[in-house]
Amino acid sequence: MTNRSAIVTGSTGFVAGHLIEQLVQEGYNVTGIDQSKRTQPPTHWTEFTEDLRDFEKIRSILTKVKPDIVFHLAAQTSVAVSAREPIADVIQNVEASVGLTQIVTDLETPRLVFTSTGGAMYGEESPPPYTEHTAQNPQSIYGVSKLAVENYIRVLTNPSNTQVSIIRPANIYGPEQSHLGEAGVVAIFGALMLANEAVTIFGTGEDTRDYIFVDDIVDILIKAGVEDPGLYLAGTGIETSTNQIFKALKEITGYSKLPIYQAARSGDVARSALSSEKAQQLWGWTPKTDLQSGLTKTVTWLKYKI
Ligand SMILES: NC(=O)c1ccc[n+]([C@@H]2O[C@H](COP(=O)([O-])OP(=O)(O)OC[C@H]3O[C@@H](n4cnc5c(N)ncnc54)[C@H](O)[C@@H]3O)[C@@H](O)[C@H]2O)c1
Repeated sequence: MTNRSAIVTGSTGFVAGHLIEQLVQEGYNVTGIDQSKRTQPPTHWTEFTEDLRDFEKIRSILTKVKPDIVFHLAAQTSVAVSAREPIADVIQNVEASVGLTQIVTDLETPRLVFTSTGGAMYGEESPPPYTEHTAQNPQSIYGVSKLAVENYIRVLTNPSNTQVSIIRPANIYGPEQSHLGEAGVVAIFGALMLANEAVTIFGTGEDTRDYIFVDDIVDILIKAGVEDPGLYLAGTGIETSTNQIFKALKEITGYSKLPIYQAARSGDVARSALSSEKAQQLWGWTPKTDLQSGLTKTVTWLKYKI
């Protein structure tokens, strides 16, 4: 058990919800910040409904809470939305993050953990799995914003008393992921299959992604709050095609329809997988949940949710 205090941004979101649950279990004093309001107020932690870009309010929350760690997860998270609304993506992802980083460094918060992207950080120059040494070449506005934020954080916190850990996760899936947006293929396909509705695959379905279960990401984020700072990739190293995800979910849900194929979307890369050798060697972190059991847990949750 710890008596540390943590601020989590994006606290009503999918990953933050799981992270907060685990932090509370480990004894952290947790304060969440999100612009959207949850229906039931949390019971074992505190939540503020604020836009991160209201810098005065955010500064006063951080001044009061004096967190040991800020986990920064709030973001516009859809590649497709970033293609349609690039300025909105920059405002939500870059402006909010730069303002937060300035506050964190001014107040000398000991640790900032930024949730970047691994799936949208690389181009097609070399075959996956990518490592921390692979040259970044984001193909989407979302990826460009995340890389810009990484760079702003590096410059704004140097020199300062704030240590920074940047995690670049692969495609995260699991219970509580929204099936209503445009990101999160497992939740979207799973929900459509359970409702016996048509499932659309963009492109040929042979595009690959590295799917990592949310509990494993929670595990690495908590390590990133206390272990040596730096840049870490978080994936399984395994490429899984959209067609394979479709097939696996079809078997789990008992769905019988064929997918509908549509043109590929702009910003989507053909292949992706991330090597987590660095986190494994330095932190002893490896993903524990295999795809089949992660998908089964997600479908079980979706059955009760929808
Ligand atoms: N889900 C994935 O596959 C994945 C993969 C790699 C990285 N990430 C990153 O992990 C983080 C969490 O992802 P998620 O899937 O839980 O996203 P999510 O969309 O479920 O949650 C994001 C939350 O951020 C909040 N938010 C956005 N802008 C805000 C602002 N200006 N002020 C306050 N709140 C704001 C939203 O209201 C939302 O609740 C994001 O930074 C995302 O880019 C996600």
